[in-house]
Amino acid sequence: MSDKLITQFTGLTFVNPFILASAPPTESKRKILKAFEAGWGGVVTKTIGLHPVENVAGPKTIYQRASEEKPYVSRYKRPDTVSHSSWNWELISDQPLEQWLPDLEEIKTTYPDRMLIGSIMAGAGGEAEMENWRKLARACVNAGCDALELNMSCPHMDRKDMGAHIANDEDIIRAVLKAVTSAVDVPIWVKLTPATSTLVDAAGAAYEAGAASISLCNTFPSLPLMDPETMKFEVEVDGLVTSGGLGGLAILHQALQRVNDISRAYPDKAISGIGGIKGFREAFNFIVHGAGNLQVCTAAMEEKGSGGVGVQLIQELTSDLSDYLDRKGFASIEEFRGAARDRVVEHSKVRRKSESYNGGYVQTEETV
Ligand SMILES: Cc1cc2nc3c(=O)[nH]c(=O)nc-3n(C[C@H](O)[C@H](O)[C@H](O)COP(=O)(O)O)c2cc1C
Repeated sequence: MSDKLITQFTGLTFVNPFILASAPPTESKRKILKAFEAGWGGVVTKTIGLHPVENVAGPKTIYQRASEEKPYVSRYKRPDTVSHSSWNWELISDQPLEQWLPDLEEIKTTYPDRMLIGSIMAGAGGEAEMENWRKLARACVNAGCDALELNMSCPHMDRKDMGAHIANDEDIIRAVLKAVTSAVDVPIWVKLTPATSTLVDAAGAAYEAGAASISLCNTFPSLPLMDPETMKFEVEVDGLVTSGGLGGLAILHQALQRVNDISRAYPDKAISGIGGIKGFREAFNFIVHGAGNLQVCTAAMEEKGSGGVGVQLIQELTSDLSDYLDRKGFASIEEFRGAARDRVVEHSKVRRKSESYNGGYVQTEETV
């Protein structure tokens, strides 16, 4: 692999900037070892927690495809379709912490040059939950994790003190970071939900409280589609659904906008870009908006014959990025990172044919 791919991110050295996001591709030791063998620069483990986890009695994830012929989106097989998105309502890992710990140790010992990031999640309902964050953090770091990603974005929780619910509360974000940073001494990434109008403030609170990076985006809250013939949701249990998470290509543009929002507000801070990366072009777009590394989930899961870890995909990503760096004469992704950041402006800052447009406000002497 080319040296140009080596990426420094939050003080850690990645052999390449591509890592598998917290999800089924990183749910077990077997898959993570396979991913590292294939060439991924790092992984964020499937989120590990201490609370009870039981998934729905039906499929946890569906893959939705669109076709040119009749361009509706559906999970059902039709000829000549292309991937549109994943939709899931899978909870965090159901493998207990005690079982994860020897696995993490073995993974780190087998691949010491690959970055192992432990994703953890606890509640926020009081000191006992803060102690859970500390316990998870210490255990994962002692087992060899190079960094932690705090899951403040799981969209599937009824509990109001967990996951996406807490990313709207700056006090909770600060309290969790205080607990974790007091317990361990590794870079802390914070994964926020895109589904909040206060994302930039939440990111600011996290950075201020010691987060080394923000990871964006988790899946977007969304509903599966209903089939007009059967009147069934394309995924349901006993006729019922709940809000789940949309991932894959369909969220790329929205994820980019969230990354740009944070990158403009905090240009000197690190961001890990996630959402719809399928190849070099999507990865490139995250980098130009400021992301310093890239996380991939749906595209790896969709790759047939790879065991859901994207064996072909990581080869393509590294080879296409390497070709691009050579072609442009760049020494690393740092040379074009953030290139698009400040070219995203307020609507009225974009030239009109006349010079009199005032952002929708009526022009008065004061506003001219
Ligand atoms: C089936 C499934 C399970 C997921 N589980 C987790 C999880 O446990 N923790 C987490 O932080 N994100 C989880 N995610 C979100 C992904 O890590 C990622 O943020 C999201 O899928 C967007 O990336 P993508 O467009 O490449 O899929 C999950 C996603 C999917 C599809």
